[in-house]
Amino acid sequence: MADAALVDLLDAIPLPALAIDRTERITAANAEARTLIGQGIEGRNFVTMLRQPGLVDVVEAVLSDRQPRVTQYLANDGVQDTTFQVTVRIAPTLGCAILCFIDVTHVEQAGQMRRDFVANVSHELRTPLTALIGFIETLRGPARNDTAARDRFLDIMDGEASRMNRLVGDLLSLSRVEGQERVRPREDVELVGLIQSVLRTLKPLADEAGVALEPQIAPERVDMIGDPDQLMQVFTNLIENAIKYGASGKRVVVRLDAVDRDPALRAQGVRVHITDFGPGIAPVHLPRLTERFYRADSHRSRALGGTGLGLAIVKHIINRHRGRLRVESDLGKGTQFTVILPTNIP
Ligand SMILES: Nc1ncnc2c1ncn2[C@@H]1O[C@H](COP(=O)(O)OP(=O)(O)OP(=O)(O)O)[C@@H](O)[C@H]1O
Ligand SMILES: [Mg+2]
Repeated sequence: MADAALVDLLDAIPLPALAIDRTERITAANAEARTLIGQGIEGRNFVTMLRQPGLVDVVEAVLSDRQPRVTQYLANDGVQDTTFQVTVRIAPTLGCAILCFIDVTHVEQAGQMRRDFVANVSHELRTPLTALIGFIETLRGPARNDTAARDRFLDIMDGEASRMNRLVGDLLSLSRVEGQERVRPREDVELVGLIQSVLRTLKPLADEAGVALEPQIAPERVDMIGDPDQLMQVFTNLIENAIKYGASGKRVVVRLDAVDRDPALRAQGVRVHITDFGPGIAPVHLPRLTERFYRADSHRSRALGGTGLGLAIVKHIINRHRGRLRVESDLGKGTQFTVILPTNIP
């Protein structure tokens, strides 16, 4: 029977914690530790319960030389793999080692995301750079005196350099909106005029792609508090995507409805639907579209000059405005993105 004071002590620690005595038995464990490692662990030899060689070695070392140590314990919470940092320290008056398990899964995940991000950026930059270097070599060597080839290569180089430029621009924009996500926007915005000006700007692109832009905007004006430049970016990217990826549907409808009480926001708001009648997006891609560099059809998107950062930026801007982004798509029929924004001005 474990010492009642020891049990009380472990129960007061808000992390999985357990005690191991000199005979290598688990003498007490709190409820969090039982959830993590298993019910009925008290009284058992720790080696049979903890089972991970790294942790077992560390506990044995601490029990023998009484020096504190830190190690890792890997688990799974039924949804995802989890990582714990485990501190192992001797409590001299209690005559046992105390193990505390600190969940560091989110720290590990943040580290992994950072590494993925750097890898993605390097890859995205390397592709156009490799092309540029290749063309420079060709222009210095075999194509030196070939005027027609030179002009063609310079055009391609121009395209690749612009792509790198756009990528860097998008990266800066993304880091700016991420940094501001918790800062409330505070400018007055009139949304109907803003969307109409985006439609005017994108008209040439739509004409070139043979797409008719069809605004269906009932209210005369919609006033809200927001960041006009960022909201421009949102609608520009969504309408541009609809034109670029949905061109085969020949039309893009931009519809705006003001709602007194939006069910998603539980507040007064506005819903803007951007609908195209293009190839649509397969359901597997939908949940991941707003991830950085995620492309549903990467070959086509790259060919159209996309960086894959547009929707990531859109998502952050909408979050900053306390809004929602929805996407519905039917393969072969088209795609509808919906932006829901609160308009109640405090
Ligand atoms: N309306 C749409 N129809 C079909 N696919 C779409 C549509 N909108 C987006 N996509 C897919 O989602 C991907 C991500 O879009 P996003 O705007 O984030 O990047 P992008 O357009 O490739 O690059 P950027 O916007 O930075 O120029 C696109 O590459 C495309 O595959
Ligand atoms: Mg885009």
